[in-house]
Amino acid sequence: MANKKPTIVILATGGTIAGSAASALETTGYRAGALGIDVLMEAVPQVREYANVAGEQICGIDSKDMTGALWLRLAERVNELLAKDDVDGIVITHGTDTMEETAYFLQLTVKSDKPVALTGAMRPATAVSADGPMNLLDAVRVSASGESFGKGVLVVMNGEIHGAREVRKADTLSVGAFQSPGGGPLGYVQDGVPAFLHLSLRCHTKESEFDISGITELPYVKVLYGHADDDGLFADAAVSAGAKGIVYAGMGNGSIPAAAEMALEKASSRGVVVVRSTRTGSGAVIASEPSYENAHFLRGDSLSPQKARILLQLALLKTTDLTEIQRMFGEY
Ligand code: SIN
Repeated sequence: MANKKPTIVILATGGTIAGSAASALETTGYRAGALGIDVLMEAVPQVREYANVAGEQICGIDSKDMTGALWLRLAERVNELLAKDDVDGIVITHGTDTMEETAYFLQLTVKSDKPVALTGAMRPATAVSADGPMNLLDAVRVSASGESFGKGVLVVMNGEIHGAREVRKADTLSVGAFQSPGGGPLGYVQDGVPAFLHLSLRCHTKESEFDISGITELPYVKVLYGHADDDGLFADAAVSAGAKGIVYAGMGNGSIPAAAEMALEKASSRGVVVVRSTRTGSGAVIASEPSYENAHFLRGDSLSPQKARILLQLALLKTTDLTEIQRMFGEY
């Protein structure tokens, strides 16, 4: 008996992969998320050679407008679909600007070992040499592959397979915009065949302790970007606005200018959870100044500030215990 093809559900959320420009020469200034899932799938009929595919439109947005409410809806739908015996994997088409954040949110909230692969495009669907169709085909092949089982949420772009925790968009325009600082991609799609070289060892998906069932809103957490001369004004503003947590994208090993440190110390003494992160783009934030430890600032490990924010939001759904939250930063 011939092997049955896996069933993959493609969830569309918008982005440049669904972008439509006035001419085939335009690669900026287009409308992201304008085209529906049917148009995307029609552009790559070859996906059906590798999987039985079904498409579903979740939203049609420019991913700069992604929200916590949409993450919750998307995660819930992914969990619902993956719980079915007749669904083998998920592909999510997504704008590249916040793809890494959505991938990490799903990495922490999807309760399945089945493959989930996000993909997108740097050139709109209408452009000469659009990159979306090949990326979509690669993502379906990755999601349909038994090799992808249990590897966490994946980002498939430009022939590379990245892990959700490490991946970041690192270029504004290049089709090779995605990088995973520190370890590089988990693998590659070589002539259509997924080949893995590395594993991400941090907890994810089925092992994750975070459960978003019944949750309708995520805690309010702000990222503040450190810079020379920071007077701490925005830290005070975040507290006044009701932030439950602040991630400070500090200099180097999460260093904080003195005036901002004073404002964050005040925030921490009022029960706002403060996490030191870094604006460097790679490397871990570890213990340094004793004053940071005395003020009970947590260390964001090697998560980017935007991913530290997501982990802190999910942590705050469970606890405000600082020792517990620091443990989570070491595990996820
Ligand atoms: C977006 O993130 O929705 C627009 C940019 C892109 O997809 O590359």
